[in-house]
Amino acid sequence: MSHDEASSSPLHRQDPEVAGWLQREDRRQRTTLTLIASENHCSAAVREACGSRITDKYAEGYPGRRYYAGCEIADGIEDLARQRALQLFAGADTANVQPHSGTSANLEALLALAGPNGRIVGMSLKAGGHLSHGHHKSHTGVVFDAKQYGVDDRGLIDLDEVRDLVREHRPQVLIAGGSSYCRIIDYAAFGEIAREFEAYLLCDIAHPAGLIAAGVLPSPVGVADVVTMTTHKTLRGPRGGLILAQERVVKDINSSVFPGGQGGPLVQQIAGKAVAFGEALQPGFKAYQQQVVDNARWLAECLVGHDLDLVTGGTDNHIVLVDLRKTEMTGAVIEERALAAGLAVNKNAVPGDPRPPMVTSGLRLGTPAITTRGFDRDAIKAVADVIGGLVRGEDPEKFKTRVQELCEAHPLP
Ligand SMILES: Cc1ncc(COP(=O)(O)O)c(C=O)c1O
Repeated sequence: MSHDEASSSPLHRQDPEVAGWLQREDRRQRTTLTLIASENHCSAAVREACGSRITDKYAEGYPGRRYYAGCEIADGIEDLARQRALQLFAGADTANVQPHSGTSANLEALLALAGPNGRIVGMSLKAGGHLSHGHHKSHTGVVFDAKQYGVDDRGLIDLDEVRDLVREHRPQVLIAGGSSYCRIIDYAAFGEIAREFEAYLLCDIAHPAGLIAAGVLPSPVGVADVVTMTTHKTLRGPRGGLILAQERVVKDINSSVFPGGQGGPLVQQIAGKAVAFGEALQPGFKAYQQQVVDNARWLAECLVGHDLDLVTGGTDNHIVLVDLRKTEMTGAVIEERALAAGLAVNKNAVPGDPRPPMVTSGLRLGTPAITTRGFDRDAIKAVADVIGGLVRGEDPEKFKTRVQELCEAHPLP
């Protein structure tokens, strides 16, 4: 949208204050580089669908079985989104596209499989898991009797530890997946442990969903009873959640989403998901996802060239986790310094981190958003040089011009 078009938009005329904030966000995204591993830039088509008039529509229930009149269009959109999701994730029996977020998807799936006060086992937040895998401050740590596994000294999941914990705790649900785990997860091995102890296996692929949809990473579909994910990270769709389920659990999953955990679905977001899934079915999507991984591996190499330590020594996916413990810096300090230079990164705990979560000794970097902007090896190297300099204590001001040049050379979609 040109500046003139933006300033004559209904929002701008009616509410310049909100319009002003949104324009500032547009500018912020254009003039900073997003290296936050859980963020991406969805297409204008996805954003148009999410801002459409169907936001007005109540559609409690599922296609063909709604509690309101006038849902024919909502039915068409939801059926299309479900069909496309099933094409993307071959082998799943059904898809529920209604979860408002990844956390809702997990809570709803866990309640369906474990029931209130049920037992669950997941990876701890400190080791790279997600809050919604049983952390004590999440409802999943309150509603369920949760035990958590960690990672070994190298930062890798220790399947013997997982097996011992499952043998001891006998959970109804074993969870595989994480938020800052940068290596391939052996879903088949998790499946064996779950089967041996008669637990359901829930794989949360919120982070690598796009990589898995493109076939760049192995899929847990077919091994897991339920697969949950977000649609806004590597999958590059609108903000939201998605649950894939095998036939034997589908009824429980669907009723746990609605009426269990949610009311009316956000049909405008479901429309955005349908558009994003359509994009992910195009041939170019695989090349994009391969580039995401190639860029992350190259970023990892360049950072090692700056004498930085990486958890697990490198990456198999879109995430690089820098361990700052041998430097003078904390995650929080680098987050602030990077932002001053024009890079949005996030502080993150590293395995065995002695520092609290608001400080941390780590830095989580991700390549989905900058790859969407068309970053190649030279541009990735330039970003690594900025981070290397910031960790060495160089002035962020010194890097501002270089970061702005990179932003201008790689516009937002
Ligand atoms: C593995 C994992 N699961 C679930 C979520 C939660 O997603 P949301 O923020 O949409 O609730 C995240 C978010 O980062 C995640 O990394």
